[in-house]
Amino acid sequence: MADVILETRQLTKEFKGFTAVSEVSLQVERGHIHALIGPNGAGKTTCFNLLTKFLVPTAGHILFNGRDITAARPAQVARMGIIRSFQISAVFPHLTVLENVRIGLQRQLGTSFHFWRSSSSLRLLDERALALLAEVGLEGLAGTLSADLPYGRKRALEIATTLAMEPELMLLDEPTQGMGHEDVHRVTELIKKVSAGRTILMVEHNMNVVAGICDRISVLQRGAVLAEGSYAEVSRNPQVMEAYMGTSDGALAGAQH
Ligand SMILES: Nc1ncnc2c1ncn2[C@@H]1O[C@H](COP(=O)(O)OP(=O)(O)OP(=O)(O)O)[C@@H](O)[C@H]1O
Ligand SMILES: [Mg+2]
Repeated sequence: MADVILETRQLTKEFKGFTAVSEVSLQVERGHIHALIGPNGAGKTTCFNLLTKFLVPTAGHILFNGRDITAARPAQVARMGIIRSFQISAVFPHLTVLENVRIGLQRQLGTSFHFWRSSSSLRLLDERALALLAEVGLEGLAGTLSADLPYGRKRALEIATTLAMEPELMLLDEPTQGMGHEDVHRVTELIKKVSAGRTILMVEHNMNVVAGICDRISVLQRGAVLAEGSYAEVSRNPQVMEAYMGTSDGALAGAQH
């Protein structure tokens, strides 16, 4: 039996009669990098919003570590360890790289006034923040203003602030979007690295990234699961090929292994 960290059962979301997510049953295995792919408008981001409780499902269930979290609130699921990587806009541009990670850590630890008053606890916080920066390769840029970081490095910072929340399951929505070749490679390597000891569910349009690092893939189309399996399996599925045909990001067959 697979060790399933996250499961959805018949998860459904309707917007005024339009079904954006339709009876989606997913099983994400612990330790995997699991990709959610599909054409534009397939319902991928809506799924993420349901998982993080930003949206309330119309029907269906979500289980995390075997526990039904369908009725949980966003802060509760975050505390349980389901953390969505925030968009770059959530990185404070006028703070340094180190300060941004420190804020992430403070969020995680809570804001007890007495705790933060002690200088030894602040030193501990800096140590932890620097360790996280080292994990994402930003240790040399700790003092840099976040606004001055190149695009790919901002993504790395965003991942560091997400790691500060101690995720058991990280949700990444299009982590390589808008990146040039070099940054895509760097961020892909980074995701692979930080996946150690964690589980990652990611939406990704770049099929080279999916083929390169994802253990399992679920393909969504018009809100429903069209296919599931390894990259080799889904990429030769005729229905999947058809779903991608004629879309700009459909180079399924062209991806290199
Ligand atoms: N709040 C909303 N109200 C009404 N319709 C919505 C809402 N959010 C999403 N939708 C619709 O649901 C469908 C799925 O959208 P979603 O953003 O989940 O797709 P996606 O797979 O993430 O697409 P993309 O690849 O473009 O990011 C789309 O048709 C979208 O217009
Ligand atoms: Mg989306």
